[in-house]
Amino acid sequence: MAIKKLLHMGNPQIYIPSEPVMEFNTPELAELIQDLLDTQQEHNGVGIAAVQIGISKRVMIYGFTEKNPRYPSKALVPITICINPEYEILDATLEHDGEGCLCLPNLYGWVPRVRRLKLTYFDEHGQKHEVIEEGFAARIVQHECDHLEGKIYLMRIDDLRKFGFRDEVTPQVPLWRN
Ligand code: NI
Repeated sequence: MAIKKLLHMGNPQIYIPSEPVMEFNTPELAELIQDLLDTQQEHNGVGIAAVQIGISKRVMIYGFTEKNPRYPSKALVPITICINPEYEILDATLEHDGEGCLCLPNLYGWVPRVRRLKLTYFDEHGQKHEVIEEGFAARIVQHECDHLEGKIYLMRIDDLRKFGFRDEVTPQVPLWRN
């Protein structure tokens, strides 16, 4: 078990696209996955990408199996470990909802994301999988895949008044309706 140090916004590595994983079934890959699981759990994350702990490889995890204090209204999402993920948009309708990020502690923003997608990824053994996700799960997938491209959610916010410290922005309900 290893909880890794998180990179925070401003660290230039966050903005560098990650490299594909070429070798599966390796001890390094297994260790990276365990580190991501441990670090996500420590910080009550609902998703994490390898670059957030300083490893620029296309590995990400999404999901949470206990009620999450950072997103208390959201239903549980099974934990999925994704290597070299890609997605195809199935419903491009934009939905706005709140997002935080382990690279931006205590901050929160109202981010547009597409409603439904088909995610393709490899597991740690190199087996290919496909899954259709929608709503909050699809939102996390988009957030983590953005990390693999060197993007953070702040870049997707269309009105910066809808971004700020979590305990300040959420009560501003009228502003936060799309
Ligand atoms: Ni993030």
